[in-house]
Amino acid sequence: MADTAKSAKLTIGEQTYDLPIYSPTVGPDVLDIRKLYGQAGVFTYDPGFTSTASCDSTITFIDGDEGILLHRGYPIDQLASKSHYLEVCYLLMYGELPTAAELEDFENTITRHTMIHEQMHNFFRGFRRDAHPMATMVGVVGAMSAFYHDSTDISDPRQREIASHRLIAKMPTIAAMAYKYSIGQPFVYPRNDLDYAANFLHMCFSVPAEKYEVNPILARAMDRIFTLHADHEQNASTSTVRLASSSGANPFACIAAGIACLWGPAHGGANQACLEMLKEIGSVDRIPEFIARAKDKNDPFRLMGFGHRVYKNRDPRATVMKQSADEVLDLLGVENNPILQVAKELEKQALEDPYFIDKKLFPNVDFYSGIILEAMGFPTSMFTPIFALSRTVGWVSQWKEQLADPQHKIGRPRQLYLGSTLRDYTDIESR
Ligand code: SDX
Repeated sequence: MADTAKSAKLTIGEQTYDLPIYSPTVGPDVLDIRKLYGQAGVFTYDPGFTSTASCDSTITFIDGDEGILLHRGYPIDQLASKSHYLEVCYLLMYGELPTAAELEDFENTITRHTMIHEQMHNFFRGFRRDAHPMATMVGVVGAMSAFYHDSTDISDPRQREIASHRLIAKMPTIAAMAYKYSIGQPFVYPRNDLDYAANFLHMCFSVPAEKYEVNPILARAMDRIFTLHADHEQNASTSTVRLASSSGANPFACIAAGIACLWGPAHGGANQACLEMLKEIGSVDRIPEFIARAKDKNDPFRLMGFGHRVYKNRDPRATVMKQSADEVLDLLGVENNPILQVAKELEKQALEDPYFIDKKLFPNVDFYSGIILEAMGFPTSMFTPIFALSRTVGWVSQWKEQLADPQHKIGRPRQLYLGSTLRDYTDIESR
């Protein structure tokens, strides 16, 4: 915990309380209210955690007003253009960029753990074929604790390490199997000679009946998508993982909880919802109608892939993603993709509209990713599983950080109770 030199005074009635203030390395100061209830007998009220830091962390920093995202201090645009996903995984997990030897060792460790226990294949077969791949992933990842119980002792740092490596290594295999199962094709085993992204494409798109060459341009684009989603501070799914873990739950159960949370359309499910929205809009002349609906308080419709709790400026990941969409479609020889045209025009019109300007609503990471993923051949139902597999390293890094913190304790929020006061039970005849 950072040192505190400052404090704030809170006066309630006649009493004044001193609240320590912590200064982070960068970002707004944080008021420590941990002793407030014990001293003053009041809770703080912050549904949605709009003003609450739930933990301290050294992994990721976001300046939402400036549109800055740093992993361990490195800006996301530099990582997206100069680094690659497994190097970013190492950075997130261990805090520093790896040396060449450390990277080689890490890559070997990850690529040697890509297969899943053969008996897990039967587990997949218990699902209906038309299940959403996210539903399958929640179940299968949760079930990993039944297959890998030799790495569920969270008090053992080595077991925590092994569980982390297993999750990062096996998540692409599980996501690809969920996809293959949903389309009735045979599971494709991982290939350890391919890099992380190329292997994922191989497991998704190859079939035993014919040779499949991974397109290196697509593999690079896939890797960049993984990198852009790798971590994002204390977002809803990461906070879910931390809260689940705070009870001492095993890592596979915690990550399954994170996947479940990510699936919601306000969070990672927005990439699927966004592409479906762009298709529903269909042509640029219909954009004003949808913008009007998004602004209408009486219409539940919202622009998917737009707005963010933290970014009140451009999401820097969306900027890279937009460039990638142009590059990938160009390289694939897709000219004048109508959905990309709708997306660009929608962004332009929204950013000129006073409603979106006043509320500081910009495209987020989910706005352009679906266009790239669809061009690569993925169905919309695979967009959120791809987000989940990319985010696994973030969840795992935050989970490891939490468990290594000697101050960590079970998460237990309180409430503003507005229900009935004490009353006596009435017999059914008297109601
Ligand atoms: C992710 O937190 C993270 O870091 C998440 C993430 C990550 O990497 O982990 O970045 C990934 O989840 C990206 C967000 C994906 N979701 C969407 O694209 C869904 C559409 N956007 C939203 O529903 C919304 O913007 C949220 C959920 C992203 C943010 O919600 P907040 O912070 O609770 O803000 P809000 O819903 O209270 O909105 C504030 C105002 C409201 O209007 P008023 O009531 O003040 O008049 O802005 C309006 C909202 O109605 N608004 C929108 C809008 N988003 C917010 N209006 C129209 N279209 C939108 N998309």
